[in-house]
Amino acid sequence: MSDKVLFFDTTLRDGEQCPGASMNLRQKLEVARQLEKLGVDVIEAGFPCISDGDFESVHTIARTVKKCRIAGLARCVENDIRQAAAAVAPAGERGRIHVFLATSPLHREFKLKKSKEEIIEMAVAGVKLAKSLVNDVEFSAEDASRTEHDYLAQVVEAVIDAGATTVNIPDTVGFTTPTEYFAIIKYLKDNVKNIDKAVISVHCHNDIGMAVANSLAAVHAGARQVEGTINGIGERAGNTAIEEVAMALSTRPEPFGFEKGSQPHNLNTREIVKTSRVVTRMSGMLVQRSKAIVGENAFAHSSGIHQHGILAKRETYEIIDPVEVGWGETELPLTKHSGRAAVKARLEKLGHTLSNDELSAVFERFKKVGDSKKFVYDDDLSSLVDDSLDTSNGVWKMSHIQFIGGDSARPTATVTLVKDDEEYTDCAIGNGPVNACFKAIDRITQTHGELVDYNVRATSTGQDALGEVSVKVQFGDCESGCKPISGKGAATDVIEASARAYLNAVNRNITFNALGISGN
Ligand code: KIV
Ligand code: ZN
Repeated sequence: MSDKVLFFDTTLRDGEQCPGASMNLRQKLEVARQLEKLGVDVIEAGFPCISDGDFESVHTIARTVKKCRIAGLARCVENDIRQAAAAVAPAGERGRIHVFLATSPLHREFKLKKSKEEIIEMAVAGVKLAKSLVNDVEFSAEDASRTEHDYLAQVVEAVIDAGATTVNIPDTVGFTTPTEYFAIIKYLKDNVKNIDKAVISVHCHNDIGMAVANSLAAVHAGARQVEGTINGIGERAGNTAIEEVAMALSTRPEPFGFEKGSQPHNLNTREIVKTSRVVTRMSGMLVQRSKAIVGENAFAHSSGIHQHGILAKRETYEIIDPVEVGWGETELPLTKHSGRAAVKARLEKLGHTLSNDELSAVFERFKKVGDSKKFVYDDDLSSLVDDSLDTSNGVWKMSHIQFIGGDSARPTATVTLVKDDEEYTDCAIGNGPVNACFKAIDRITQTHGELVDYNVRATSTGQDALGEVSVKVQFGDCESGCKPISGKGAATDVIEASARAYLNAVNRNITFNALGISGN
């Protein structure tokens, strides 16, 4: 058995399935590049057959990332499998096809309407086809944790015989418990005669808050691949948070069956915080302050007793040195006098690899912000990346904005946008200046957005901090249940930041419609 636990990151597939987290190609590439720096073993880059956009992003990531295996998801259906093979092809030997099929009684009877035998036949046929196209094939028995153990063992044995080199045992609905999941993995190890020919993988959802505990229990029982996402983002309550499993294994290897002092995985843990930030920015999914490892408060000690203890000896109240996960790397902030090369170098350090045109767009915004703000901090800079790139790549670009508010004025906004080098100006009255800006944007772009979520936060401290606004907007007639589109914007003025965030959502909606993605 391998003495390392492999990390299979599905932030760009299962993570991206979470409402509000859709990313465009640029954002997915940034996440993938950062995951490569973090050292995950496998990146599941998407579900290629779902849309042209998904295919394109898996293909581009497979071409760009050089160190990780790149997986594409496929149902046990010929077209899915062939598309996944084509999408991961640029990764060569590092390409993986991940086929899945549900095995539990509920799914067999109500979703698939197939007998046990038919499911095994489909699974074997899917794995064989995938194996004829790539060497590295993973099979997932969807809803495995609610599948009869003896039947699950038969499925696993059959797909390994058919060529699967990784067998995944998902807890699809976050139903299992640590002791139960340990027992399932142990049962498979004891009862599947060819189990040593494959890596056992686990994939947990967090519906009752046990995804990390369940994954660790499975590792203890012998699983050697953990699937999860950065910050635990994912459908419903999310997936296993990779950073938490990694730090549990690094900090306490022995309870999970590893030697004291060993490093049971391949991650460069010092990249964890940076990766968390990149995923937050790219997906728009904020991390709660008290979240383990990567939350703002994870290493903040406010009580006097704790502070005194920490000063006397760090280990009194800290089980992990924050530096080991990438906290506390402080750099001098940039100012308006900083040149393009300094901005480029800092952006690269922060994990943003930009083309020349993209750098120009960010640098232009940086100069404007630098005029109204003494220092531009790293977080400010990252906000500007999202803001300037998503706007400049969209159909509409913000040119000018002016608004009137106050307790006795009628809130009014005048907005000028640019499209194809032509300026469009309109104005509107709203129930506040933010609402007036949104209405003016609606009038120019001829859309109608319904704001369903709005968040504002300061990216740094001090009165001249940048305000970063995240919005979720529902466009069009949503009786059939369309998903909200997220948008982000940053500026020293929160009303301007709000307008930028709204325009970002408008542009993303236009892009998703053009690509045929019913995305968020
Ligand atoms: O949760 C699940 O079962 C999945 C599979 C596709 C692996 O995401
Ligand atoms: Zn899942």
